[in-house]
Amino acid sequence: MRRPGAATATAHANIALIKYWGKADHALILPRTSSLSLTLDELYTTTTVRFLDAPGDDRVTLDGEPVTGRPLQRITALLDLVRERAGLRAPAEVTSLNTVPTAAGLASSASGFAALAGAAAAASGLDLSPRELSRLARRGSGSASRSIFGGLAIWHAGTDDASSYAEPVHDGAEGGGFADELALVVLVLDAGRKTVSSREAMRLSVETSPAYEPWVAGHAGQLAEALDAIAHRDLARLGEVAEANALGMHATMRAATPSVDYLTEASHAALRAVADARASGFPAWATMDAGPNVKVLTSADRADALERWLRQRLEPSVPQLRTIVTHAGPGLQVTR
Ligand code: DP6
Repeated sequence: MRRPGAATATAHANIALIKYWGKADHALILPRTSSLSLTLDELYTTTTVRFLDAPGDDRVTLDGEPVTGRPLQRITALLDLVRERAGLRAPAEVTSLNTVPTAAGLASSASGFAALAGAAAAASGLDLSPRELSRLARRGSGSASRSIFGGLAIWHAGTDDASSYAEPVHDGAEGGGFADELALVVLVLDAGRKTVSSREAMRLSVETSPAYEPWVAGHAGQLAEALDAIAHRDLARLGEVAEANALGMHATMRAATPSVDYLTEASHAALRAVADARASGFPAWATMDAGPNVKVLTSADRADALERWLRQRLEPSVPQLRTIVTHAGPGLQVTR
C-alpha cells in the first residue's frame, strides 16, 4: 500500500434533468428515484487532501475560509469512510476552491463531495474504480455520485450501498455524444445562501407532502422518456420532460408542511421569459433546484444567442442578473 500523502482532484458540478428528490435511506443516502444529469464544464471544485502525521482533528478551508459546524461534520464523516477503508487514523487537511456560488442551488455540494471523494481516496492510497468513487461520493451528498462522470450521467437508485451508483449514459459517443450538442444557460438571480437546505426540504417533501408519492409514481416514466429522447438526439422531447419533472419536484415541496418555496419573483419572471423564448423559436426549457436560480437547457449552437435574448428581456426587471453559459464537462480528474 502507498504511504498516505496528498492528492488533488477536480470535479465538475452537474444539473439534474430528471431529479433526485427524497431518500429511501438517510444514513446510506439511497434515493427514492433514479436521476439523470448533465455535468458542466464551467462550474467546478478543486480539492486537495493531505493526511497529516500528527494526531488532531480534520482542518478544512473552502475558498480560504475555515469550514466549521455541520458542513465540517459532513466532510469528516466522508473522510472517516476513507480512513476506515484504508486503515488510517491520520487527520486530514482539506483545501477546497469553488467556481460555483456555494449553496445557491448551483450544485456546489455535488462537485464538492465528488472532488473530496476523489482526492481523499487517492491521498489515502486507495485505488477505487469510478463506480466505487461514485458510491463513496454519494455518501457525502447524493447528487455528488453523478459528478464522478462527464457528460450525461444516470444515478441508479439501487436498493443498497452496492447497487446505488452513477454511470455515464450511452449517448452515441462515436464522433461526439449528444451531450456535446447541449448547453445550459444559468440565470443567477440570487447568489445568496439558501435558508432551507435541500436535505431538509426533501425530507419535508417525503414526510408531509401529498404531492410527493404522485411525483415518484410518474418519475420512472419521465426518466424512460428522457433516456429515449437522448437515444434519438431529440432535444425538444428531453427539454419538455426535464421541465415537467422539475416543476413537479417544486410542487411537492410547496405542498409540504411547512411549505418550501425556493422560487422568487425573479424566478417566475425567468420562467415566463423561457416560455417566451421558446415561443419565438429558441430551443429553451427550464429546470430549477433547491434555490431561486433558473437553468435553461438549450442547444450548444444557440446558447449564446439565447443568453443575449434572455439577458435583454430580464435585465430591466432583474438588475442583479448574472448569466453563465455552460456546456458538457468532464468527469473527475485526480492528480496525485
Ligand atoms: C434539487 O445531493 O444536495 O439538486 O443527498 O441530501 O446531500 P443530499 O442532497 P443533494 O440534493 C440535490 C437535489 C437537487 C436535485 C438533483 O441534483 O438531482
